[in-house]
Amino acid sequence: MSQIVVAVDGPAGSGKSSVSKAAAAQLGFGYLDTGAGYRALTLTALKNNLELDSVGELDLVQIFPYEISTDPANYFVRVGDEDLTLGIRSKEVELNVSRVAAQPKVRAFMREITRSIANGCKSPGIIVEGRDITTVVLPDAKTRVLLTASEEVRLGRRSVDLQSDGSISAQVSDRDKKDSKVVDFLNPAPGVLLLDTTELSFEGSVSALVDLINR
Ligand code: DC
Repeated sequence: MSQIVVAVDGPAGSGKSSVSKAAAAQLGFGYLDTGAGYRALTLTALKNNLELDSVGELDLVQIFPYEISTDPANYFVRVGDEDLTLGIRSKEVELNVSRVAAQPKVRAFMREITRSIANGCKSPGIIVEGRDITTVVLPDAKTRVLLTASEEVRLGRRSVDLQSDGSISAQVSDRDKKDSKVVDFLNPAPGVLLLDTTELSFEGSVSALVDLINR
């Protein structure tokens, strides 16, 4: 296992993925995007016409040969022979991923995958980001951070990410609302540091996260 495990949670558009990835690159750490697993499973289910709301009942080891890079300089997501790095960002996935992420069996499966990837990472440290990493997946991580920003700023950051088509803001708020019924990623659990990036630039947010890790 990487010696230093850093857990980062936060809502959509908080910038946690790009900030965590840049901080990992700066520190020479690995980087693990756990949302990608839920997205890749959703896309796999859509491609194979599986029933999204009961995908957790299937043999996930069998239908979902998942692979994700932990190298912040070479990010990719694969399922079997297929590269899904770009496909998992599609609008269809964005609209449906909460249905998949709400299923306890899917969450248990992803929890084990995440722990095993973090365990296998050879870097001196790893930053693992998602929604339930500080609380459920890696509650013993050396540094645990809830990275957030005001709703207005989050919607702005997200629309830049997604090439806004006018409905993005509603989609992001809607997804956060659904997701936060399953796990609380809006309030820091006891012992979790709050990093509010509302007033910070991207570089400022990366430095602030690196400072918290170095502290
Ligand atoms: O971080 P993201 O937007 O790529 O996450 C995609 C979805 O996956 C999001 O709607 C919530 C879910 N998710 C989760 O439930 N738990 C995690 N640890 C990470 C993501």
